[in-house]
Amino acid sequence: MMRYLTAGESHGPALTAIIEGLPANLPLSREALNHELFRRQQGYGRGGRMKIEKDELKILSGLRFSRTLGSPLTIQIINRDYDSWQEKMAPFGERPGTVEPVTCPRPGHADLPGALKYGLQDVRDVLERASARETAVRVAVGAVARELLKHFDIGIYSYVQAIGEVAAPPVAAAEVVRNYEKIEASPVRCPSLPAAQKMMAAIDRAKAEGDTLGGVFVVLALGVPAGLGSHVHWDRKLDARLAGALMSIQSVKGVEIGDGFAAAARPGSLVHDEIYYEPHTGYRRRTNHAGGLEGGITNGEPLYCRVAVKPIPTLTKPLASVDMDARKPAFAAVERSDTCVVPAAAVVGEAVVAWELAVALQEKLGGDSLQEMLANYRSYRRQCAGR
Ligand SMILES: Cc1cc2nc3c(=O)[nH]c(=O)nc-3n(C[C@H](O)[C@H](O)[C@H](O)COP(=O)(O)O)c2cc1C
Repeated sequence: MMRYLTAGESHGPALTAIIEGLPANLPLSREALNHELFRRQQGYGRGGRMKIEKDELKILSGLRFSRTLGSPLTIQIINRDYDSWQEKMAPFGERPGTVEPVTCPRPGHADLPGALKYGLQDVRDVLERASARETAVRVAVGAVARELLKHFDIGIYSYVQAIGEVAAPPVAAAEVVRNYEKIEASPVRCPSLPAAQKMMAAIDRAKAEGDTLGGVFVVLALGVPAGLGSHVHWDRKLDARLAGALMSIQSVKGVEIGDGFAAAARPGSLVHDEIYYEPHTGYRRRTNHAGGLEGGITNGEPLYCRVAVKPIPTLTKPLASVDMDARKPAFAAVERSDTCVVPAAAVVGEAVVAWELAVALQEKLGGDSLQEMLANYRSYRRQCAGR
């Protein structure tokens, strides 16, 4: 089974991921992987760090002549910022007198609960790892998964539906694909130009007021075959795994699959997707309220996840907190920070969805190499066509 671990602090020397269980012979290109890192660093409302750092990955193991070996793939992304943080983040030695601890936790961050849980006096010991800087290496992992999915004609897309109170009109999956260049070029990843302009104005206002904004993004996966995931056990249900993966992204507070919460208010006749069959398409649906998943298994329709992102917690006009040394009222610490991360979070959303689909695909098909997976896929498609 494919699995991965990540390691690394926001201002430490590097972020690292080890992916275990990848099939051998999967072609990987440096350009394709780095392009995903670039996409995560875009977006209107990002802070200073994105201007300092242009992420690029290094592969330390598992790849030879641009093909996976089947052995663990180790990815490293150097934190260029580490040069100016070496003293504050030194792995060895005593704390220098010049390095002040952070003692005023930021509401909405892991700062206070993390310090309490791990018995830490310096909130930096928590925030360095809790920071969404970690998502850079998760995007790299997702980029590898995406390369695997491409061989099965599975494509992952995302767009931003709302920022703060500004919402764009709903968009059909086919329209997203048709307009994808426009979405990629939009500073807020929004398919509607008028909505995008209002979103950017809202971000400008929030920034001027020392505030932050959240929003909603959508992740779509097209070309997903029926039969990924399983109904037989709770932890094999793909809807649960997707929701867990999306919720694990820093600042994500809600995940809907298909119509999600809206379905709760409708009668069943308006929620379930009627089935028809045609020899050239197989089993299809005229609607896709289920978002491509029934009983924890993909049903062959586009996968649709809608994700709520809270406004990020670091405010330049800080909220009330408590100084944990003095136990006295104080303002929350101010770190260099973004104003709105919804477009970047959407790219991270694509990455975690790509990973979960790649894992489910490998579970379905087995195979130690890409060619074995593809042969098994052809045979599975024949089996589905015959039923
Ligand atoms: C791409 C991305 C960038 C983020 N950048 C910041 C940031 O600059 N400042 C900040 O306070 N929070 C930022 N966050 C959100 C925090 O990391 C997150 O709110 C925090 O770790 C607490 O986790 P929770 O919101 O999931 O509870 C970012 C999130 C994402 C997805």
